[in-house]
Amino acid sequence: MDGVERGRDVLVVAGPGDTQDAILSAVAAQELDAEVLTDLERLPRPWRSAGTVLVADDQAERVVARALPHRGGVFLVGADPAELSVWSAPLAAQVIPLPEGGAWLGSVLADGAARARAPVVAVVGGSGGVGASTLAAAIAQVAGERVAPGGSGGSALVDADPTGGGIDLLLGAERTGGWRWPRLSGAEGQLGDLRGYLPVVDGVSVVSMARGPSVDLAREPLAAIVASLRAWHSLVVVDPGRSLAPATREAVRLAGRQLVVVGAGVRGAAAARQTIAVLGLERAELVVRAGHGALSSGLVAEAVGCPVVVRLPDEPGLLAAAERGEPPARGARRQYRRAVGELVADLVGEEPGNG
Ligand SMILES: Nc1ncnc2c1ncn2[C@@H]1O[C@H](COP(=O)(O)OP(=O)(O)OP(=O)(O)O)[C@@H](O)[C@H]1O
Ligand SMILES: [Mg+2]
Repeated sequence: MDGVERGRDVLVVAGPGDTQDAILSAVAAQELDAEVLTDLERLPRPWRSAGTVLVADDQAERVVARALPHRGGVFLVGADPAELSVWSAPLAAQVIPLPEGGAWLGSVLADGAARARAPVVAVVGGSGGVGASTLAAAIAQVAGERVAPGGSGGSALVDADPTGGGIDLLLGAERTGGWRWPRLSGAEGQLGDLRGYLPVVDGVSVVSMARGPSVDLAREPLAAIVASLRAWHSLVVVDPGRSLAPATREAVRLAGRQLVVVGAGVRGAAAARQTIAVLGLERAELVVRAGHGALSSGLVAEAVGCPVVVRLPDEPGLLAAAERGEPPARGARRQYRRAVGELVADLVGEEPGNG
């Protein structure tokens, strides 16, 4: 499913030779993560998930013969533009002639669009105060501690809850300089790498509401910011809040995974069911908050009508940690960190226990 698993940045379909060498040195210069393939049986999956596909002259005819689904971001690279242009229409690909087009190849790869897209997860409270924002911050924090194989690591945490008071407080980032929503709310179209502008704590780039006059966060800037963050992080976590504001709706729409935190009691389950219906969460999966009732996860799943991904232990220290401005997972007990770690592994499509 789109938005669930981050593929490699660049798929290189090229046999050994000068074209492959030129492509790989351009990819390495941008510190991108590449997969080189000539076994076309294995092509369909990376063809779907890679940010950019570079097909060398020696493989173009074979790739066309595969009749793969249409996708953007495909380039044909080689020494003979006339020969390559024959394959350009069936692959909807632009032709980059070498060596003259070397600089163009570099700029294609330097663009954020060349990168694979990180998954987006929204964390929604099934009822008020059930721990959604805290879990969003903990997921971002644990994901931020990991660095992806391609070097593009870190996570992003996006606050889209106008009444939440600013999620930067939960990470102790309120005094960390950097842009917040008021500064970003005019964003549109394709943006570059925002990491240098945002507050960063424990490997988490934070896009927070500011205290002071509230911003009317519209759909477009949220979509533009999330799209940019996906190119430069390994996971994007959004806290949409529970309002019916346009930004909340857009945040859950953008998310490939929609986690709903639900108290393990009859009222918590009933409220979560309503929340899922009202917000139209078609991909809802449940995180059961133990300590909020005595129902088993199975019964909660049945009552809400959605699968449970994890049961989150009660972590009494979280309230005090938040007051001190200490990121939630930092001082938490092992069971809590383990539950969040399992969730992160699942979200980024890793086998559990990988780091
Ligand atoms: N696993 C947990 N164990 C114990 N307390 C928790 C846990 N998760 C969150 N809390 C505490 O519950 C309270 C509410 O948490 P949080 O603000 O994250 O909830 P929320 O669902 O985002 O609330 P809101 O509906 O206001 O957005 C906080 O005091 C927080 O420290
Ligand atoms: Mg909240």
